[in-house]
Amino acid sequence: TELRVFCPATIANLSCGFDVLGLALEGVGDYMTLRLSEQPGVRITRISGGSLPLEAERNVAGVAAQALLRVSGYGGGVEMEIEKHILPGSGIGSSAASAAGAVWGLNTLLGNPFTLTELTGFAASGEALASGAPHADNVAPALFGGITLIRSYTPLDIARVHCPPLLHAVVLHPQIELKTSDSRSLLKKTITLQQGIRQWGNVGGLITGLFTEDYDLISRSLEDGIVEPVRSLLIPGFGKLKEAALQAGALGFGISGSGPSVFALTRGAQPARQVGEALKEAYGPLGIPFNLYVSAV
Ligand code: HSE
Repeated sequence: TELRVFCPATIANLSCGFDVLGLALEGVGDYMTLRLSEQPGVRITRISGGSLPLEAERNVAGVAAQALLRVSGYGGGVEMEIEKHILPGSGIGSSAASAAGAVWGLNTLLGNPFTLTELTGFAASGEALASGAPHADNVAPALFGGITLIRSYTPLDIARVHCPPLLHAVVLHPQIELKTSDSRSLLKKTITLQQGIRQWGNVGGLITGLFTEDYDLISRSLEDGIVEPVRSLLIPGFGKLKEAALQAGALGFGISGSGPSVFALTRGAQPARQVGEALKEAYGPLGIPFNLYVSAV
């Protein structure tokens, strides 16, 4: 039997929730086809849409699948084909989509021996290969769908967050190179108590706003005084884009994961298209090629 899996793109951090919050995009993602084989181990037979390594040990999907196989007790192996649509290095969870798709597909073929939280752990080990740190804020929403909160990393404890039905996301991906490992190493290791207070106020506000569908509260809470001021310096035109998005009616605007993509959230599809147009207009004059995605969450 063969299984075809949709592997969604994801926005990690959501401004105030560095390394703990993330959401999956309904309409943007890769596809993966998996089948079990008698030959032990992981074989990636084909990758279209991106020049990524086929060797399992050097590919996030391969590493994630190997981590699952190792503890599964299954004597055989798996073959997979990957169809990339999410550009590697774009900041919308390209490697996470592959890692999540691999473990989700493999788990399904094996009869679902593992929970989604266990799958997140396997997928995060694949992520570590790509970014140098096993963060799970992209793989968790890719696996659970919607919006997720990583309450704790050790042990892994993940909570699903209610997603208001009107919530839409707009992503602008400027085609510049920015490595997650580099944009992580820029960050200071400590914050002040004052910064902490502001940040966990916003995280709590965002979660409450999402559960009660209070869009004003969501909007006020989409703020990040810790990571964004540092990382935004690496994204040409960030300030201009933020201003344009907020003026066009976005609930909030920030960096998607470690960048270079930026995102806006909106209440509804029409406002999302409007914000998309405003971002295009603001970014055009910079002369940097970009991709734009508008999607439900
Ligand atoms: N939380 C991670 C970071 C996500 O911001 O470094 C990387 O996509």
